[in-house]
Amino acid sequence: MDREIQINRVLSCLAALSRNGVAAPLLYPIEANRALFQAMLSPRRYCQWLHGRAKRLHPEKLLEISELLPEYDPVLHNHLMTVERNPVLGLIRPLVQRIANLILHAKRPLLLADFGAGGMEVQRQVIASLPVGKKHPLVTFIGFDISLAACDLAQANLASQLPEGISILPSAEACARWLQQSPAPSARPIRAATCRVSIFDLPAHFAPGAFDVIFHSFFRHHLDASVLANVEATAARLGRRVWEYDGYQNWPTVMWASLFSWHNPIFLAATLLSHRRFATRRQLLASHKGSRLRFYGNGCYLREINYQAKRRTKRWMET
Ligand SMILES: C[S@@+](CC[C@H](N)C(=O)[O-])C[C@H]1O[C@@H](n2cnc3c(N)ncnc32)[C@H](O)[C@@H]1O
Repeated sequence: MDREIQINRVLSCLAALSRNGVAAPLLYPIEANRALFQAMLSPRRYCQWLHGRAKRLHPEKLLEISELLPEYDPVLHNHLMTVERNPVLGLIRPLVQRIANLILHAKRPLLLADFGAGGMEVQRQVIASLPVGKKHPLVTFIGFDISLAACDLAQANLASQLPEGISILPSAEACARWLQQSPAPSARPIRAATCRVSIFDLPAHFAPGAFDVIFHSFFRHHLDASVLANVEATAARLGRRVWEYDGYQNWPTVMWASLFSWHNPIFLAATLLSHRRFATRRQLLASHKGSRLRFYGNGCYLREINYQAKRRTKRWMET
C-alpha cells in the first residue's frame, strides 16, 4: 500500500481515538505518534522532527503505535521478523549465537523460556543454525507472549524448522501441565510451545529456578520503571540465568532505520519511538553490577545474570 495512504490511515485512527475520549496517560503518546506520522509525510519535515522534537520526547510517557492501535500488531511483528532475518543487519545474531552455543555444549536437557517472544524468530534462527546431525540433549523452548497475533505468528514461523509443529498453550497452567508430558517422538531433540499469557502470571505456576535460561529480546524497552522492576523480579525468581537483549540509544541505528524502513512508515514510527525508549549506554553501564554486559555494533546489548551462582553464594554466606 502507498506509504502516504498508510500514514493518513494511521492519522485518522489516532484522531478517532482522541475523539472517543481516552484515559489521560494516553494523550501524550497519541500526540507524539500523531506528530511523528505527520512529519513522515515529507523527508524535510521528518529531518526537522529528528533534530527537534525527537530529542525532547519523554521516553517514560511514550507508547508505540501497536500499543495504541492493536490492529497494527501483526504488521509490526511481521516486519520486525523480516528485519531480524536480514543477514547484513544481524539484529538478533549475538543472542542467537549465545543460545546455540549453550545448546551445543549442554550436558543435560534444557528448558528455555522467552519473555515477550513475538513470532519466535530467535528460536527459528537458533534451530536453523544448529548443525544437522549434531547430537545434543533435549531442548524445550517456550515463548510466552500476551498477544494472540504473536502466538499465531510463532506457530507459522517455526513450521519451517519443526515440521511436527509446535504446541499452542492458552495459559500458564496448561504450560506447566504440557511440560510434565513426555515429548512426542520427533526428528530432532527439540520441542517448542507458544503460550499466550502475561509473564506476571507465571510465578503462581512455576517453581523458583524452573527455567535454565530466561531470555528476552526487544522486550525491556516496552516496560516502564515500575513494571520493569516486576519483570526483573519474575525473571530472577523463575530463571537460573537471565539474558536480556535489547537496543541501546545510538544515532547510527536511527539513520539505518530511516533508510531501511522509509517505505514502511508504521514500522519506522515504532522503531523511532522504541529507540527513544531504549536505555543509553551510560545508564546500562551504571546498572550492570553483578551481571555481564556486552555492546554490539548492531546497536544492541546483551546482559547476562547468573542467579544460580548468586543463590549458591548466598547459601554459602549463610552457612
Ligand atoms: C517488540 S516485541 C518483541 C518480539 C520478539 N522478542 C522479537 O525479538 O522479535 C515485544 C513483545 O512483548 C510482548 N509483551 C508485552 N508485554 C508482555 C507481558 N506482560 N507478558 C508477555 N508478553 C508481553 C508483546 O506482545 C510483544 O509481542
